[in-house]
Amino acid sequence: MGKLTGKVALITGGTSGIGKATALLFADEGAGLVITGRRVGLGTLVAAEARQKGVRCEFVEADQARAEDCQKVVEIALREFGRIDILFNNAGIVTKGTAETTDESVWRETMEINVTAVWRMSKLVIPHMKRQGRGVIVNNGSDWSLVAGRDAFPYIASKGAVGMMTKAMALDFARDNIRVNAVCPGDTFVDRWLEKGYFEYSDPATLEDAKREAGAYIPMGRFAQPEEIARAVLFLACDDSSFVTGHLLLVDGGNTAQ
Ligand SMILES: NC(=O)c1ccc[n+]([C@@H]2O[C@H](COP(=O)([O-])OP(=O)(O)OC[C@H]3O[C@@H](n4cnc5c(N)ncnc54)[C@H](OP(=O)(O)O)[C@@H]3O)[C@@H](O)[C@H]2O)c1
Repeated sequence: MGKLTGKVALITGGTSGIGKATALLFADEGAGLVITGRRVGLGTLVAAEARQKGVRCEFVEADQARAEDCQKVVEIALREFGRIDILFNNAGIVTKGTAETTDESVWRETMEINVTAVWRMSKLVIPHMKRQGRGVIVNNGSDWSLVAGRDAFPYIASKGAVGMMTKAMALDFARDNIRVNAVCPGDTFVDRWLEKGYFEYSDPATLEDAKREAGAYIPMGRFAQPEEIARAVLFLACDDSSFVTGHLLLVDGGNTAQ
């Protein structure tokens, strides 16, 4: 028996990074899965890898910034599995800029994906969890849900909102036996960081510099791996955390302790 045997989990943004690592760990633990994302090729591969572990896994192409796609994802999950026990609101984008330099389109896009989609997906899933008599929502926040940093104003605003949405939902639905928590990762090394134009890390020399820098500013001396965040999500999603709700779980190598 896995920790999630018999459970159905819906993971937004399961095509790469933390979402992919969580999908594969949940598959190891026996969960039926629905994963979403816009990159169909990657999503199809992740779903196939999960199925090889002996569970059902459906990939649904979806842009979580669109209300109709959120609706579609939940409908497909219910049609295919008949229930949703765990919602991992993971899909998100990183945006840079200060209050002065951020333009309207970047602000709107950041809020649509990082904030509004978390609300929309929760709003769609909570009635089913209420009917089931239980449910778990895990939101992907950030260490920037608790502290700020420089030159990432729209992202920090969005992740701060995720932190308080988590606490507000936890209070509103505690008596419905729906637990709501957030995982708050520190810098986690994902493939996206290697994409051209993504931060300054596209240049391998700079990436090595960044890794060295992480050694200096992160107390544990390195970036996290997505699998390390996935294990924290598993804790919040399974019955090991049965009395934990409204909690922001930092997984940041000690970064915010200093
Ligand atoms: N890596 C870090 O250092 C770090 C630290 C703190 C928090 N986080 C949070 O972790 C979460 C996952 O990010 P990651 O680091 O794993 O990076 P990633 O590999 O870029 O993953 C982002 C995921 O979100 C999906 N996504 C983005 N926009 C979407 C949209 N409009 N519709 C549907 N899916 C969308 C992407 O799928 P498609 O591109 O296929 O649509 C992808 O699966 C994010 O919420 C991020 O803020 C990351």
